[in-house]
Amino acid sequence: DGTIWNGLSTLRKDNRGIDLKQLFIGAEGTLGIITAVAVKLYPNPEHVETALLGLNSLDDAIKLYRRARRECCDLMSAFEFMPPVAFTLAIEAIPDLKMPIAGDYPAYVLMEISGSGLVDTADLMGRFLEGVMEDGLVLDGVIASSRAQAQSLWLFREGMNEGQALRGSHMRTDISVPLSKLSAFVAEAEAELAEKLPECLAVSYGHVGDGNVHLNVLPPNGATPEEREAFIYKSKTLVNEVLDRYVGSISAEHGIGRLKRSDFESRLSDVQRRMITGLKNAFDPDLRMNPGCQISLQPDS
Ligand code: LAC
Ligand code: ZN
Repeated sequence: DGTIWNGLSTLRKDNRGIDLKQLFIGAEGTLGIITAVAVKLYPNPEHVETALLGLNSLDDAIKLYRRARRECCDLMSAFEFMPPVAFTLAIEAIPDLKMPIAGDYPAYVLMEISGSGLVDTADLMGRFLEGVMEDGLVLDGVIASSRAQAQSLWLFREGMNEGQALRGSHMRTDISVPLSKLSAFVAEAEAELAEKLPECLAVSYGHVGDGNVHLNVLPPNGATPEEREAFIYKSKTLVNEVLDRYVGSISAEHGIGRLKRSDFESRLSDVQRRMITGLKNAFDPDLRMNPGCQISLQPDS
């Protein structure tokens, strides 16, 4: 109804009743419009070590993640998983990129350690990699020796998105499962895709520490728009069926919007739907806020 609520408190601890702002986070504008935010800023870290590592499997990448958490603690500031095809895709988008590691490995990790002041991140990265290579968890790796080199390592991770876009419309997911089940989930979904849609290319990558994987499926080059649409629909259904067996999420970081509405709604329990409808009625009884997003509701006639 146009009422403005000022929820810009910057108190670190505040337990006075229901935390109303949380209702607006993830609501994607269906309850109200966020017009301002208060954010906590941290200084940039003074030292950042970036390494690209070759490994045997996603399973080993998860073992490496756990070990990095233990040995580098919260100084580990990034841990991204990439399959070998990531490099092909990135080079398709940014042809100047040079392969940073000589050999071919089944799996890659882009890892960063950051710190400031007296913390010696270079020493920590060096000793960490020495240990994991001695144990055979990491097969090969490069540590960036300058900021420019670190940026070019990140270009592989970032360029692979552009490379996928250049191959035409495809199926994109934003999945999370418990970290302990991530590699089993990816293996099962990829195996089913290989069996039922062998023409397609599955590309699984992402933010391993969060149990978040983008398992995307690219239709074959040369597929017509209609064929692409059919591949996208079939692969989405297949991946979501595997995901449901793992009780994972269809939206780890990007939200529901309109594209995932039916997948979201069909997975809502009665009680979830009742709670969402109740909130909608309380905040937006005329269904004016971002209609068609997340959930389809009809006004009471
Ligand atoms: C990424 C975006 C797609 O992780 O979330 O590259
Ligand atoms: Zn992501």
